Amino acid sequence: MPSTLEAAPDTAAFTAAAALQKVLPELVALSLDAKQAHWNVTGARFLALHELTDRIAADARAWADRVAERAVALGFAVDARARTVAASDGQFPAGRLGDREAIAELTAVIDRVAAATNVALGDLTDADPVAHDALVAVVEGLDKYRWMLAAQAG
Ligand SMILES: [Fe+2]
Repeated sequence: MPSTLEAAPDTAAFTAAAALQKVLPELVALSLDAKQAHWNVTGARFLALHELTDRIAADARAWADRVAERAVALGFAVDARARTVAASDGQFPAGRLGDREAIAELTAVIDRVAAATNVALGDLTDADPVAHDALVAVVEGLDKYRWMLAAQAG
C-alpha cells in the first residue's frame, strides 16, 4: 500500500487523497487564524466575535481531522506539519484587531479556504463519495460562518 501521495499510482483513492491534502493545511490555518482573532479582537462586538471565532476554530479543527482521517483511511499519509501550514497560510495580521477588521480578515481566510475546497471538490468528481461528502460539509460550514461574520458587520 502506498504511504505517500508522491509514491501513489494514479487511482481513485489517490485522486481523493490528493484533493483532501489540498484542503487540510488550509483548514489548520483557518483554525489558527480564528484563534488569533479570538484572542486579539477588540471593540463593541468583542463578546460575540470572541465566541464566534472560537466556534470557527473548533469546527475547522474538526473538519481538518475528518479530511485527514479519510485520506489516511484510503491508505495515504497526510501532511499538516507547521511548515506545510505556514506555506499555505495567508497574511492574517498581527496585533490587536478592531471588530470590523477581524470580520474582514477572517472572512478573507474563509473565502480562501472555500475556494481551495471547491477546487478540491472539482478534482474529486466521483473518485470517492465519502471524501466528497466531507468536503461538502466543509463548504457548508464555511458558508455558514461567512454569513454569521457578515451579520456581525451589520
Ligand atoms: Fe478562549
